[in-house]
Amino acid sequence: MLLLGIETSCDDTAVAIVRNGRDVLANVSTNQDEFHRAYGGIVPEIASRAHLALLSAAIEHTLERAQMTLADCDGIAVTYGPGLIGSLLVGVATAKALAFAARRPLYAVNHLHGHLFAPFLARTEAPPYPFLALLVSGGHTQLVAVDAPMQLRVLGKTRDDAAGEAFDKTARLLGLGFPGGPALDALARDGDARAVAFPRYRPEGDALDFSFSGLKTSVRYFLERPENASVRREDVAASFQAAVVDVLTARVDAAFSRGSFRAVALSGGVAANSLLQQRLRAWAEQRGVEIFIPARAYCTDNAAMIAAAADAQGEAVRVDPLSVAADPNLPFERIGNAA
Ligand code: KG4
Ligand code: ZN
Repeated sequence: MLLLGIETSCDDTAVAIVRNGRDVLANVSTNQDEFHRAYGGIVPEIASRAHLALLSAAIEHTLERAQMTLADCDGIAVTYGPGLIGSLLVGVATAKALAFAARRPLYAVNHLHGHLFAPFLARTEAPPYPFLALLVSGGHTQLVAVDAPMQLRVLGKTRDDAAGEAFDKTARLLGLGFPGGPALDALARDGDARAVAFPRYRPEGDALDFSFSGLKTSVRYFLERPENASVRREDVAASFQAAVVDVLTARVDAAFSRGSFRAVALSGGVAANSLLQQRLRAWAEQRGVEIFIPARAYCTDNAAMIAAAADAQGEAVRVDPLSVAADPNLPFERIGNAA
């Protein structure tokens, strides 16, 4: 199946063409960072207006790159939630119009499920079911048991901030620009991770949840104390990053030990973090577990993963182009538009 994917749930205007949920024929993502940078974060109204201005050209560009027309595609896949309502509406309205005009089936994908299928992209070998997925992005931090394309169980999630949000907020405290995750990752490379002992959150009992707000507050208090003024920012960044990665790795280990998973997969923007990749690869090697980490372009929000999820979930996510609606609060459990 050859699918055109569209993803506009947040601030990336993304379009892709994917064959059989694996081969990426074209993947275009127009980053809006320059429009939001002055505000230190994403401004929803600016994001939706930018999607409106960029999406049509992005679709044309994607088709051109893949050297095909809409008529060559077997269907259209679009993110219909969760996300920013104005942003989602632009993608959903466009996908509905294209599906209707080209008489092609429309697949409505849950953005979070999209991330779970990113590890299938552009590689010869796909993760075998059941696998354990760690989804770490700017909006979400979840451990998911992927038993089958439609059998998804959330084993643990964040109780407050998402991992990416913690990176972005801490980066801001360190005076780094927006988005902060990649900048903090780069700064931490020259730092000593043992310089500051920041807290590692541990949930009670056998819960597999996360919490990052206490860590973020610790960094803020640390930086506010005059006696710490001479501590290198590189060391603070490295110490913070190590605390986040320790928690993520410990929780993956605990979840993996309790299930009968055949592999581990990583996705979401924070999956691009160099220390997280290094530590989880080392953990997997030691445990003899196969680990799947998508290329950077498929870790952060992209449309190829939306096409991959639609391919895997198939008829269950096929919707009527006239009645599908964007849902900013779409729950993780929702597959298809069965409202
Ligand atoms: O998946 P994504 O593109 O968007 C959401 O759906 O949220 O994730 C964006 C998040 C941001 O918080 C960004 O700072 C973080 O991923 N991120 C990183 C790195 N690259 C992106 N965090 C840590 N280290 C990185 N290298
Ligand atoms: Zn995302």
